[in-house]
Amino acid sequence: MAAKTLYGLESLLAEELQQLGAQQLKKGNRIVHFVGDKGFLYKANLSLRTALKILKPIHECRVRDENELYRQFEAFPWEDHMHVDQTFAFDAVAFGAPFTNSMFVAQKMKDALVDRFRKKVHRRPSVDRQFPQLRFHIHIDHGRCTLSLDSSGASLHQRGYRSLTNIAPINEVLAAGMLLLSGWKGQSEFLDPMCGSGTLLIEAAMIAGNIPPQLQRKHFAFEQWPDWDPQLFDTIRFAQQDKITAPQFPIRGFDKAPSAIRKSKDNILQAKLDDYISVERNNFFFSEKKEDSPLFLITNPPYGERLEADITTMYAQIGDTLKKQYTATDAWLISSNMEALKSIGLRPSRKIKLFNGKLECRLMYFPVYQGTKKIHKINAEDDAR
Ligand SMILES: C[S@@+](CC[C@H](N)C(=O)[O-])C[C@H]1O[C@@H](n2cnc3c(N)ncnc32)[C@H](O)[C@@H]1O
Repeated sequence: MAAKTLYGLESLLAEELQQLGAQQLKKGNRIVHFVGDKGFLYKANLSLRTALKILKPIHECRVRDENELYRQFEAFPWEDHMHVDQTFAFDAVAFGAPFTNSMFVAQKMKDALVDRFRKKVHRRPSVDRQFPQLRFHIHIDHGRCTLSLDSSGASLHQRGYRSLTNIAPINEVLAAGMLLLSGWKGQSEFLDPMCGSGTLLIEAAMIAGNIPPQLQRKHFAFEQWPDWDPQLFDTIRFAQQDKITAPQFPIRGFDKAPSAIRKSKDNILQAKLDDYISVERNNFFFSEKKEDSPLFLITNPPYGERLEADITTMYAQIGDTLKKQYTATDAWLISSNMEALKSIGLRPSRKIKLFNGKLECRLMYFPVYQGTKKIHKINAEDDAR
């Protein structure tokens, strides 16, 4: 099988897979290949925090041109994998000669599938691009084709706790990836001082409580497969549920915008995590860490994309606030604004390259302890590849 992920999260995903019990792991570019059985496929869909999709390959072949592609897949026994009354869609990724147009490949595959059914049963299944019952994935790399079934359906970043928002929310898989990269396990108090809709808070609580991220999902694509085994799924779901524990330390969020506080409260309730997470309207710059106990702080501040007034001053204030009001804090921050990041004025001890959507970002680690000094130049090396 193969699990897809975001840039920079491949090693984390491989670790997650290994911990769940996957065999023969092989990392690629935004993908990890592995071996597992049907029960493992269910478990992986329920529990992986850094996977976007889990694909199950069903056919591999080589093709030289579009005619051969059509012929090979018109001869493929599609009826073993779907019923004529089920709706379907194709995702295609094609690169390297002779195929460079993914849309064209998806179209050819659809024609081959439909024609096969027409010949066999004189009827054809319908395409549903938005909510297909079965989603196939075709990957062509220089003529080497892998046809897979998408076992997840809607992308696994959709955890079900977040509804539409006008706040710029971070992708849930990216949020979980940032937390795991930073070593968050629930070991101390937690603060996101610019929490927006609360994604980092919710993902942090789920990690701290060992809560599978897809426990609330109503529908997985594998439920439409001919080999769907609801009893096996329930056994696995209950076993995963049994591992849940209560987070040991408070998880708190601030935001200065009342709308963000309303939104984050809604999302926390949806995630059923209101016993462990609290949010309050607060301006980070006027806040202060009260106890000497260690604090884990992680945040996704505005990047200046919406032309917020003087973003450089804001980042300088973040640095000042951390240094003067947040001693004994492990602070992590993600931003795409490399210029503004320099004005934080603290020396990062790690810099990790990630992408927030299309924006190239750095996740930076600032350990803030007694004696941490403000600096004016940042020259730490990237540990990004
Ligand atoms: C990019 S959004 C965070 C999005 C969040 N990670 C999510 O997934 O929804 C940045 C947030 O910082 C908040 N903010 C900006 N300046 C702040 C300050 N001084 N104190 C607290 N919150 C602030 C904004 O109101 C906004 O909600």
